[in-house]
Amino acid sequence: MSVQITDLYDNWAELTQHAEQWKSRSLKQAFAEDSNRAERYSTAAAGLEFDYSKNHIDDKTLELLLGLAEKADLQGAIKRLLRGDHVNNTEDRPALHSALRFEGEAQSNEQKEVAAALEKMGKLVQRVHSGEWLGHTGKRITDVVNIGIGGSDLGPRMVTKALTPYHTGDVKVHFVANIDGAEINDLFSQVNAESTLWIVASKSFSTLETLENALTARRWMLAQGCAEGDLPKHFVAISSKVDKAIEFGMDADNVFPMWDWVGGRYSLWSAIGMPIAFAVGMDNFNKLRAGAARLDSHFAEAPLDKNIPALMGLLMFWYSSVLGADNQAVLPYANHLQLLPNYLQQLEMESNGKSVNKSGQRINYQTGSVVWGTEGTNGQHSFHQLLHQGNVLTPIDFIAPMKAQHDLAHQQKYLIANCIAQSQALMEGRDLEASKAELRAQGVAESEIDALAEHKVHPGNRPSSTIVVEELSPETLGALIAAYEHKVYTLGVLWNINSFDQWGVELGKLLGTNVANAMETTDVPADWDSSTQKLIKRFLQANNA
Ligand code: F6P
Repeated sequence: MSVQITDLYDNWAELTQHAEQWKSRSLKQAFAEDSNRAERYSTAAAGLEFDYSKNHIDDKTLELLLGLAEKADLQGAIKRLLRGDHVNNTEDRPALHSALRFEGEAQSNEQKEVAAALEKMGKLVQRVHSGEWLGHTGKRITDVVNIGIGGSDLGPRMVTKALTPYHTGDVKVHFVANIDGAEINDLFSQVNAESTLWIVASKSFSTLETLENALTARRWMLAQGCAEGDLPKHFVAISSKVDKAIEFGMDADNVFPMWDWVGGRYSLWSAIGMPIAFAVGMDNFNKLRAGAARLDSHFAEAPLDKNIPALMGLLMFWYSSVLGADNQAVLPYANHLQLLPNYLQQLEMESNGKSVNKSGQRINYQTGSVVWGTEGTNGQHSFHQLLHQGNVLTPIDFIAPMKAQHDLAHQQKYLIANCIAQSQALMEGRDLEASKAELRAQGVAESEIDALAEHKVHPGNRPSSTIVVEELSPETLGALIAAYEHKVYTLGVLWNINSFDQWGVELGKLLGTNVANAMETTDVPADWDSSTQKLIKRFLQANNA
């Protein structure tokens, strides 16, 4: 028999009864009844101001949710995470991403190893930036390409983009992830073999996409005239399997370590963040780490009712497990944060998309949810229609850096005005009477008003939180990412699942290899399903095999 959510929480009936009340109670009404609501349901730490007042919650809701956190021993779980217990129980290891971003002197053994790796990375960045590190024809490095995928791509790529105003301009940073040769092929026309440094980033050093792209880059370098013996001037690697990287052909001095106790999707603070350091310099990379470290301290020390990641997790649990939401939107009102939703997709969905609990028992409740979104205001002219009038429950995170990092102040005003107005409009809505009044004011005929008014109704009562930062700096970005990491862990604790493994990606990899072999040998097993056979034959036909 599978485990039910009610097996975890014996007061579930009270929670669902309380949820019923929210069906007849509007957020608009809640704001009207309490002029202090925004203050009451806001908290701040590490440069983040978290306003969760436009959510379907009141003191009773919070009391019940905090009761669940107590039952799940969230506070104990936070301690276990941060002190390095083996919270990743299926792989029998810690998830010590917090050890990657300490401030000040390294204390633990892990921190000392991190400090050594980052010192080595800092030297490389400095040598490349200063022009001391030269390519095979004696030219300085102008372009750095990160080859990696998943956690070895999404975090560094997102942060590099997010910190555009901090780019030093010493080198241009590029990313290649996909096995689709189109990506690396396009890049070849943008870089010069004499002045390009390739980073091969792979925790396992066994990921098909990364190894194939690295081999392609290597072949291209040789074809462009780089001698085999000069390849170390153009290739460095980051991996927890240093020996595999060396076996692959990397020079031992050019391999930077990471560790089994860091999950790939939690690793941007390690040498996996090398592209970030190349783009913004080591000082800014360390500020990013410092921002995250401050948020770690907050997660460890703040009471749960003031704890940003804990509240983010509890709110999502409320929407997902109690109110039935199966998706959540993240809408950063900052163009440079446009890759945040992609990054969060891996963080949340690879961590919490599970159907067994920590002990391997099948669970019948939903864990994880679809994360989606894009940068504001672009989404307003696309999918916000569904948010405003569709019947899909989508809790939203708005992210609002108040100050621009450019001089176009009037555009920043419109940007943030739209962010604020979206959460207001989603919450308040517009009823039938107001729709009619608006049409009347426009001089529309009564017969047409009757036909149109209902279409113009906005049901409102749509929940959102707003995370405000003064400006998008390395420190606030670090804190923001760490808040999401810990939100994901909070949810994992509440659902009693392991957020740090990802066995679900394995079957597709295995079958991908089998299908590729069938294509290679043109020997398609007759006992495979007819659709799979047909698709493979179609590929062979298109490629004259
Ligand atoms: O296939 C999923 C995955 O293992 C992710 O968890 C990981 O971030 C990504 O592949 C890349 O892995 P690696 O860094 O080992 O190449």
